[in-house]
Amino acid sequence: MRKLEIAPSILAADFRILEREVKAAEAGGADRIHCDIMDGVFVPNMSFGPMVVEAVKKCVAIPLDVHLMIVEPHKYIGAFRDAGADNITVHADACADLPGTLDGIHAGGAQAGVCVNPDKPVSLFEQHLDKVDLVLIMSVFAGFGGQAFMSETLEKVRELVLLRERRQLDFSIEIDGGINKTTAAESVGSGVDILVAGSYVFGGDDYAVRIRELRDGERS
Ligand code: DX5
Ligand code: ZN
Repeated sequence: MRKLEIAPSILAADFRILEREVKAAEAGGADRIHCDIMDGVFVPNMSFGPMVVEAVKKCVAIPLDVHLMIVEPHKYIGAFRDAGADNITVHADACADLPGTLDGIHAGGAQAGVCVNPDKPVSLFEQHLDKVDLVLIMSVFAGFGGQAFMSETLEKVRELVLLRERRQLDFSIEIDGGINKTTAAESVGSGVDILVAGSYVFGGDDYAVRIRELRDGERS
């Protein structure tokens, strides 16, 4: 069995003290720092770009998990890789050439991920699963933190577990949106390997406690 990973999303962190925030998440047991990149076009919200990723990279030793919610992501792979992204995840429907984009991510030396919103099927990227290191299933519509978990998206997680086994592939399955103690347990029970959590981690008084609570899902 894979080790369950916790990836706190800095979208919910206090940007006035971002260094302290990411260091506290790392010290609290986070496995990756999730960076949500929004362009106001692919999603109706804006967040931050490579400069912030570069700053975070200087603060922590754990990998940076960069989630691109932008149009034409292939244009920015180099910038995010240079900023220190360890893995770069693109939305399948944002890519005119998904396999080419995934190859571009690998060519830059990062791990490649593919993502879909709740209304998009696995069939959108199924034929390219051999090119991905992770699949990110959105359990809310991309764009905002703090939304309620959509448990029907776990159907895709179960589908991916079967596909991975059938095709003898090795990608990780990550889930993003509305993760708390309860939905973490539900997700892990369906086969999720990496839990992204923004408000649940950074909204807590003690990040280590929150991260431990998410990890406890593994045992339920
Ligand atoms: C949503 C982002 C998420 C978000 C999760 O578009 O991709 O990573 O930060 O936030 P919570 O955990 O608060 O739902
Ligand atoms: Zn995200």
